[in-house]
Amino acid sequence: MKSYFRKEIDAIAGYTAGEQPKIANLIKLNTNENPYPPSPAVEAALREFDIARLRRYPDPFADELRDIFAADCNVKRENVIVGNGSDDLLTMCFRGFTSPEHPVAVFDPSYSLYPVLAEMQVAPVIKIALEGKDFTYPDDISCQTEKANLLVITRPNAPTGTVCPKSLVRKYCENFDGMVLIDEAYGDFADDNCMDLALEYDNVIVMRTFSKSCSMAGVRLGYAVSNSTVIEGLMKLKDSYNIDMLSQIVGKANYLDKEYRSKCISAIRRDRDQMREKLLKLGFEVPKSQSNFLFAAPPDGDGEAAFRYLRENAVLVRYFKGDVTGKYIRITIGTPDENRRVLELLNARYA
Ligand SMILES: Cc1ncc(COP(=O)(O)O)c(C=O)c1O
Repeated sequence: MKSYFRKEIDAIAGYTAGEQPKIANLIKLNTNENPYPPSPAVEAALREFDIARLRRYPDPFADELRDIFAADCNVKRENVIVGNGSDDLLTMCFRGFTSPEHPVAVFDPSYSLYPVLAEMQVAPVIKIALEGKDFTYPDDISCQTEKANLLVITRPNAPTGTVCPKSLVRKYCENFDGMVLIDEAYGDFADDNCMDLALEYDNVIVMRTFSKSCSMAGVRLGYAVSNSTVIEGLMKLKDSYNIDMLSQIVGKANYLDKEYRSKCISAIRRDRDQMREKLLKLGFEVPKSQSNFLFAAPPDGDGEAAFRYLRENAVLVRYFKGDVTGKYIRITIGTPDENRRVLELLNARYA
């Protein structure tokens, strides 16, 4: 059949999302979701919600949420935009800052959605390789990024879990003549963050999501912080009502319960570090993670075989093909029981 799409769209494969299986009793550790449910405040907010309100459109700017995030980040409402997940915010950024004449620079490996969004814009992608077993960030990237209009720093990085030192992030921001997007999807699991850079530099956007530390991947919420000129520009690129009414309500109730969230984050950080130690003892290579997952290479360097073995035993982790990534599996930190099961299986095969 004849295609009516632009030829560039026909040429791309599209994004492969992590599998969302319907199999009962499967331990699902493949998409870095939180193993703990959202705050109990969410259920109360839903019970109180007047269903008749659904006949109205939601607040197109999600201003209540913007004010809450702004207060938390010590900025103003005009410095915040809310997205339908941070993927929505990434789409706005790629629409706004990339084109065939405006390349994007990303680190390799990093989040596999970035090149897909660039392909939709027909924008060239400059890949900057992370170096060695620790996935170290090169000190000077200016030669490689010279022509780029957007530089994406994922901090902590996915799928490696590693962190670009903040002093180096500053250096990149200062030396780069384009927009720097700092994707802090996993920032709440790290020792520090770069939120203060969002207003310190004219060319920085910092982005967060509800999908990981806030236990709300199903709701689709994220936010970005930058100077008001950048936020105004992104507002022009968003869908008119990009955050539905229910997401605004449950998102608020959940986010305000900081005590609950920080307990979940602490448990995940603790279990992550313990699991890493155990994997190292088994002979795995595991870069130090500041995220809610571990990127772990089995002793035989065959990530795909480890992935298949776990899958056969009802544990789903993530595997990324490739010369470097193919040696690893990415394991999301689950509940203590789930982590125990993973270690039991890996012990049985690799000890
Ligand atoms: C680095 C990174 N950024 C953004 C996202 C997207 O998150 P969201 O669920 O908010 O769209 C993910 C999801 O896995 C991610 O790994």
